[in-house]
Amino acid sequence: MSEPKKVKVTIPRLRRKMETAEPITMVTCYDYSTAHLVERVGLDMILVGDSLGMTLLGYESTLRVTMEDMIRHGAAVRRGAPASFVVVDMPYMSYQSSNEKAVESAGRLMAESAADAVKLEGGREMADRIRAIAGAGIPVMAHLGLTPQSASSLGGFRLQGKTARAALRIVEDAALVEEAGAFSILVELVPDRVCEMVTARASVPVIGLGSGPRAHGQLLIFHDLFGLYPDFTPRMAKRYADVAGVMREGLRAYAKDVREGRFPADEHTFTMEDAQVEELRRLMADPGAPARPLS
Ligand code: KIV
Repeated sequence: MSEPKKVKVTIPRLRRKMETAEPITMVTCYDYSTAHLVERVGLDMILVGDSLGMTLLGYESTLRVTMEDMIRHGAAVRRGAPASFVVVDMPYMSYQSSNEKAVESAGRLMAESAADAVKLEGGREMADRIRAIAGAGIPVMAHLGLTPQSASSLGGFRLQGKTARAALRIVEDAALVEEAGAFSILVELVPDRVCEMVTARASVPVIGLGSGPRAHGQLLIFHDLFGLYPDFTPRMAKRYADVAGVMREGLRAYAKDVREGRFPADEHTFTMEDAQVEELRRLMADPGAPARPLS
């Protein structure tokens, strides 16, 4: 039996969830087959994060990720998850330098990956960019707290908003990005009570990552959920399944089968009729010979 078609997730649907206190579910995703899985399970939102620079491409940070990377992976996710709400990250330096550049990059990401929205990092200093992108009719999600593209100036990948003053800046930033037109705010790695205050004051959906349970929704990085990122699961993440372990077992079993002659077996193999094999041998021995008609 085929599965019922999933109803398209839209901004009004996300807002309704926020208003009725129904938690919004979001996960990162970077390719067609995992996007297809996420959609079948029925999560609301997918972030095609520039974290793909680390999780897929093995870079040490997100800074080398390009527009082309985001478009290729965004489009693949869209193909796998047509009904989910897909947000594509604006990569480093695709929006910081000017409003014009920001609108042009956001427009390209939307047109070429068929995303539902884009996301950019930063608070008050990015309010003009958000206003310009939203003004061009492109839904934009703001990203506050730990913003990995500026990890160097934030002192690394660490908790943000620990002091009252730093927390106040985050709470104020949330109001400013909302006022600038962000349709949603992602809050990464801040203390739970800071996220709670942001959420209580917001009239757009707030999605938390490593920021406690009080946001309107939660985001997890796909590779953290399944233990796929080598040697490291951050404290903010919960590992729901050891998929890496299952994959390791599968790879070991495959290599063993090949080494011991069990794969491929008859059921994985395509054969040729004996008469065709005979004819092949004859032609190999004398490539100039005329072909014999075989039934
Ligand atoms: O790139 C990403 O996956 C992100 C999350 C860390 C929020 O921006």
